[in-house]
Amino acid sequence: MANLRLSVTDRCNLRCAYCMPEEEYSWLPSDEILSFEEISALVDRFIALGVTKVRLTGGEPLVRRDLPVLVKLLAAKPLAELAMTTNGVLLATHARALKDAGLQRVTISLDTLRRDRFLRLTRRDQLPQVLEGIAAARQVGFEALKLDTVLTRGLNDDELEPLLDFAGSHDAEVRFIEYMDVGGATRWSMDQVISGKELLQRLTARFGVITPLPGRGSAPAERFRLPDGRTFGVIASTTQPFCSTCDRARLTADGRWFTCLYATGGTDLKAALRAGADAAGLEQLIRSVWEGRVDRGAERRLELREGRGPLVSAAELRREPHLEMHTRGG
Ligand code: GTP
Ligand code: 5AD
Ligand code: SF4
Repeated sequence: MANLRLSVTDRCNLRCAYCMPEEEYSWLPSDEILSFEEISALVDRFIALGVTKVRLTGGEPLVRRDLPVLVKLLAAKPLAELAMTTNGVLLATHARALKDAGLQRVTISLDTLRRDRFLRLTRRDQLPQVLEGIAAARQVGFEALKLDTVLTRGLNDDELEPLLDFAGSHDAEVRFIEYMDVGGATRWSMDQVISGKELLQRLTARFGVITPLPGRGSAPAERFRLPDGRTFGVIASTTQPFCSTCDRARLTADGRWFTCLYATGGTDLKAALRAGADAAGLEQLIRSVWEGRVDRGAERRLELREGRGPLVSAAELRREPHLEMHTRGG
């Protein structure tokens, strides 16, 4: 376990069609949300057990008040990397404070460069704010920016080239992500997925020979180079799962720990913490769960083939919001 994805809030200021397509959501109760001190204490336990990379996620992490205060707490810990995945809407406002607090890297979701389409895909007219956020991130000195694009057939799969161009002109690398049948994706169907394979075929037809780059390790993205030298990533979680090399743990904003994006159950670390468990007790609990882990969520889904549809119904998600992608942090 080297990677901890830390969801700091289940709330979000966008309503992306592949993540939050419903009108109504059940939110985690505010008294259940971990304080920064509690998060910090749990992160210490994960670090003691081998975590070297922490990524802040949400919902939308910047919706959490005073996030730079948490970043500062985490930046003081012995981590190789402290990063954040954001939708970018509030990034222009907070980029400087985040950088000063010690955040090292940001990944920004960007599914379209067209304002009318952004509104249709996210139900909010905020593409200009996202673009300002990307500019601000560069201005304050964040380097190696990554842009995450979830492709949906017929919705944004005609923007491969504009997105590559945009990334190229902003010192960023775009990663094309397959639409996943995770909790929250209640409108998912296989025919809307642009597979990594189809994507590479399309880009090869357009640009010529595409070269895979070595060094993937346990990262979800496989990287490639176009003949003109530009690089991009492909995250093919739906059609080519990478469960066997997965080293990610996910902690929700209310302290539930999941060992897989597709897992139905998690471990309630907040309960242990608030019941007064000491460091050794928490580490023992985390170690025993991790050692017994047999998750292969995405691979199991692939085995369904034709029978594959949304993972969880909207009604079930309202009863158990921990099953939502936006609760467990993407
Ligand atoms: P870096 O490689 O450090 O940039 O991190 P990352 O790629 O894990 O971060 P990011 O938040 O940008 O993740 C990109 C997307 O990959 C996520 O939004 C998910 O769509 C997908 N993803 C991340 N982790 C997993 C995982 O454990 N399983 C699956 N199936 N998909 C994942
Ligand atoms: N399929 C693929 N990626 C998803 N995300 C959320 N829901 C899905 C889904 N159904 C990811 C996107 C987004 C990040 C916050 O979560 O990559 O950029
Ligand atoms: Fe979109 Fe991320 Fe918000 Fe989900 S959590 S609605 S993917 S911005």
